[in-house]
Amino acid sequence: MYILAIESSCDDTSAAVLRDGILLSNVTASQAVHEEYGGVVPELASRAHQQNIVPVVDAAIKRAGIVKEDLDAVAFTRGPGLMGSLLVGVSFAKGFARSLGIPMIDVNHLQGHVLAHFIRENKPTRLAHSPCGELDAEDDVPTFPYLCLLVSGGNSQIVKVNSYQDMEILGQTIDDAAGEAIDKCSKVMGLGYPGGPIIDKLARQGNPEAFEFSKPDIAGYDYSFSGLKTSFLYHLRDWIKDDPDFIEHHKEDLAASLEKTIVDILMKKLRKAVKDTGIKQVAVAGGVSANSGLRNAFRDHAKRYHWKIFIPKFSYTTDNAAMIGITGYFKYLDKDFASIDLPAYARISPNMDKK
Ligand code: KG4
Repeated sequence: MYILAIESSCDDTSAAVLRDGILLSNVTASQAVHEEYGGVVPELASRAHQQNIVPVVDAAIKRAGIVKEDLDAVAFTRGPGLMGSLLVGVSFAKGFARSLGIPMIDVNHLQGHVLAHFIRENKPTRLAHSPCGELDAEDDVPTFPYLCLLVSGGNSQIVKVNSYQDMEILGQTIDDAAGEAIDKCSKVMGLGYPGGPIIDKLARQGNPEAFEFSKPDIAGYDYSFSGLKTSFLYHLRDWIKDDPDFIEHHKEDLAASLEKTIVDILMKKLRKAVKDTGIKQVAVAGGVSANSGLRNAFRDHAKRYHWKIFIPKFSYTTDNAAMIGITGYFKYLDKDFASIDLPAYARISPNMDKK
């Protein structure tokens, strides 16, 4: 049984093909057009999706070694995301499925990130323990229930995953997402976009204790990152008054201190959630889960608090169609198909309920 999966929620156009839940191909076209603006420009994103979607789908089908007539279903990201971007993927999926006379499966983008740990590849290339030391999803997938820290450019959530379809958001950001805060601070420092990988690289050479930035005091499991962003900006302004080249002189220490602050904020709430729920299987997902500091903090917590941790492969941290495909596969098994008139949705309801 072959599924074509399509992801187009933000600025990556991605298509994947799975056979019986095993990933055969995963092709992603990223959009460099946003770099000069320091952030994603929605209208440019949807235009780029329009240009990319046909070649990306074509490449995914070819790399899987099949023809489109072999497909049994089309899974697509229905939301949340940028409406113009989503509409390209949703409309393409509808037309493609209709023309082949096969069912469609709508996938919640966030559920896709959370279930990325279940992606299996056709090639048994990965060892039980990767060079980074984390347990490999290929051999060791989480069992339900598990907690997932979902951290991306648009979301920062602690999710209790009861089953493939039943997920509960225990806490989430009340303002900016962690990735958004990193990207904005990187922009303030005059670094490129997206800031996450740049800050990550610089942070490895810096002192995480060099500078202190404000940490929020929010009740429960919710997060807040807007205060940190402001504190970062105001501190920089003051320091630049005394030394106009302050950023250049201290960029590694600034990046390391910023990264440490964000990781500390994320892990503090996660520790609370683990303590209160008693669930010690803890996963991380989303673009920010590529961050070395966060990955190290997970490994440290695994040792210190005896958590069983799940860290995705780098290629499945940022937006990709493989995660949409595996989520679509589980829905296919449940015969949970979408009707042709299902609209895209830009925002998520609190309990991840799509209907
Ligand atoms: O999941 P994703 O690809 O898109 C959304 O759905 O938002 O996440 C993108 C975010 C960006 O904010 C980017 O800066 C961040 O993930 N990111 C990182 C790293 N790689 C990507 N943040 C920190 N360290 C990284 N290595």
